[in-house]
Amino acid sequence: MESFRYFLPAMDLIFGRGNLECVRSEVKKIGKKALLVTGKKSMEKLGFLKKSIDSLEKEGLDVVHYGEVEPNPTVDIVNKGAEKAIDSCCDIIVGLGGGSAIDTAKNIAVVAGHYEGERRSIWEFAGVHDKPRQITLKTLPVVAITSTSGTGSHVSRFAVVTNEETREKIGIMSPFICPKLSIVDIDILSCMPSSLTSKTGFDALTHLMECFVSKRGNPITDLYCLKAMELIFDYLPRAYNDGGDVEAREAMALADIFAGWALVTSRPVLPHALSHPVSAFYPEIDHGVALAALTPEIMRFNIERGNEQTISKYCQIAKVGEEKIDSCKREEAFKSVKVVQKLLEKIELDLTLKDLSVEENSFEGMVESAFATMKGPIEANPIPVTREDILDLYSRSM
Ligand code: NZQ
Ligand code: MN
Repeated sequence: MESFRYFLPAMDLIFGRGNLECVRSEVKKIGKKALLVTGKKSMEKLGFLKKSIDSLEKEGLDVVHYGEVEPNPTVDIVNKGAEKAIDSCCDIIVGLGGGSAIDTAKNIAVVAGHYEGERRSIWEFAGVHDKPRQITLKTLPVVAITSTSGTGSHVSRFAVVTNEETREKIGIMSPFICPKLSIVDIDILSCMPSSLTSKTGFDALTHLMECFVSKRGNPITDLYCLKAMELIFDYLPRAYNDGGDVEAREAMALADIFAGWALVTSRPVLPHALSHPVSAFYPEIDHGVALAALTPEIMRFNIERGNEQTISKYCQIAKVGEEKIDSCKREEAFKSVKVVQKLLEKIELDLTLKDLSVEENSFEGMVESAFATMKGPIEANPIPVTREDILDLYSRSM
């Protein structure tokens, strides 16, 4: 066995139904004035925004609401939120929503926490082209209340942000942005419409599959990747068909936590490296949808060139998806692609980049963007890749 290092950030995780109530007593231990970060509509419409504000105010906390987050949040959205946190002297940032709201809360916590009289941009901490500004203990504490089961952002040390000008989407990474408190409330997750359930659920599956085959994987992560992949193959179609199926929602929420921890302890590979540029060039394409269009072809590519260990990993994925594997050979490993495609059909997400109106003339720019922002995942792929390979994979996914 190869030697490895295993790191999981310390955090308090509360899981169950009706957990929004826990916010008040727990958050009071962390801060006095909260910036509550949400998207523009869903949490307000479903009543969870009011519930959260009431709950926090009841305990004497001051709450300032910042409800401007959009899917694939931009540098500008983060910087404006940070200004609000600084101007209102907030000492804690609460993210209520999907990955976009929680990532924005984390990024706001970085910018506001490091404010020393001069306004900074989150992009200075991303360090895509210049040396990044350091993220330190000064980062404000973050509380995450997740409303989707996909990104694992509520349990991870990553926060994604898109620079619209340079068309680059990057995951900022630091142990200091990991939420101090994370709340998983099945009642909120049960409100997801079916299309959101499918794309976020598939995102979680890719985290698990990618971290499982990754060069940066380790035997501890492998254990819960296998268990959580099984949960997703079994329960994602159920959650998709019946949003009120509590057992399925619980299973997906659990799989999302394991997938978030997999991202922390291993590293994603090519599907994530290639999907970020897709959303950076086409912001209307959601993360999980881009992954659905790219993943099958990348799996085929990795299996075509994979060594014995990689083939064995893909055979195990096929087995988890309930394909019968006689002996672990390359041809058998392709059954893993079949199980993923079957799942995508069940959740109505079997589509190509062409279906998403991606144009071939963006490919060169997307390859550049991938190498500028996703070098880690590219290098963690079990098969080494060149620029030409990535161009070819975009073409194959059309
Ligand atoms: O914006 P509002 O009005 O709140 O509506 C949202 C949004 O339109 C809505 N929504 C969220 N929860 C809902 C709901 N509607 C009804 N009921 C609910 N319970 O759904 C839409 C999508 O929300 P969003 O937060 O964008 O979705 P998701 O959770 O998939 O997050 C995607 C973002 O996370 C990043 C992605 O790149 C993308 O920017 N990721 C973050 C990661 C991390 N921090 O580790 C890892 C991932 O790989 C991913 O890159
Ligand atoms: Mn993802």
